[in-house]
Amino acid sequence: MSVLVAATGWDTRAWMERMRVELPERLYVDPRDPHDPAAVEYALAWKPPAGLLSGYPNLKAIFSLGAGVDHLFCDPRLPDVPVARIVDPNLTQRMTEWVVWQVLHHHRFADHYRRAQAERRWDEVTEQPAAAEVRVGVMGLGVLGLDAADVLVRLGFDVAGWSRTPKSVPGLSTFHGADGLAPFLARTDVLVVLLPLTPETAGVLDRKLIDGLARDGRLGGPVLINAGRGGLQVEADLLAALDDGRLKAASLDVFEVEPLPATSRFWSHPSVVVTPHAAASSDPVFLARTIAAQIRRFEAGEPLLDLVDRKRGY
Ligand code: NDP
Ligand code: OXD
Repeated sequence: MSVLVAATGWDTRAWMERMRVELPERLYVDPRDPHDPAAVEYALAWKPPAGLLSGYPNLKAIFSLGAGVDHLFCDPRLPDVPVARIVDPNLTQRMTEWVVWQVLHHHRFADHYRRAQAERRWDEVTEQPAAAEVRVGVMGLGVLGLDAADVLVRLGFDVAGWSRTPKSVPGLSTFHGADGLAPFLARTDVLVVLLPLTPETAGVLDRKLIDGLARDGRLGGPVLINAGRGGLQVEADLLAALDDGRLKAASLDVFEVEPLPATSRFWSHPSVVVTPHAAASSDPVFLARTIAAQIRRFEAGEPLLDLVDRKRGY
């Protein structure tokens, strides 16, 4: 019985090593090594080449090595077996750290102070709003969005969230669906995006959305923070809005094309923070345990946790 570890651009050996610790009685194979496809029962995958998984006739389940599954569902030949994703406190906490870091970056005018320091200027922003005066809107109230929102509420921000289906969350103003989007945006100074990439959400961060954000906030203009997926954003619209001030600033961890090309204007834009899809990395030391537990459950006849719905796309 074998387990395929197909993780494009990642260190597959590190995943195999940790899986051997957590679930020793298997053979772990890299698609590039000689192996018997018929012996493979499970695939651990991150951005596998399109069509690769269709070459394993006895596959029983696919485990995404990340929280997102768009990298699997873009394969038209993805085998019709259960697909589970990562839901793990380790990954969630990393994302919340990144979101809080970026919200505080803009809330505390970090770009201004970096510039002032570089120019040796003692230049206090005297109008420092309180957290309670800053309206944060979290797009996507799933595992990651809810955790980030919870911590932002505890920091004192005025937080709302937007999701596909209605939600009632203590401490949060909630909005949902197409009808809820405009009122949600109209009360948002800092937009945090933690949506999955699906046919419904692709390109949602466009000119129209940006123009719907609040313009009367205490930060001097709306701020966009996106760690969901690059395919959510129309980058030409973002750059135009950053250039003409309709967006005050942005923090972007994900891009239409990754790695972000050296020619991208995002790299040098004075109002943009770029991180290289590093908001919440998948660490095999923590996540191999979660996947091994899933395989044990499956083999004990229990339902897999954190299954994704192919129709919804997340
Ligand atoms: P979940 O599936 O738990 O949550 C997704 C949320 O998005 C849900 O609240 C869902 O609404 C909402 N949603 C989906 N489609 C729509 C829609 N059409 N309109 C409105 N809301 C919608 O996902 P996670 O929170 O675990 O992860 C979110 C995404 O974060 C991942 O898919 C991945 O792309 C990204 N990610 C990025 C990382 C990075 O390092 N940059 C790391 C990890 C994840 P509802 O609750 O109603 O279903
Ligand atoms: C994920 C990611 O989906 O790292 O987990 O992007």
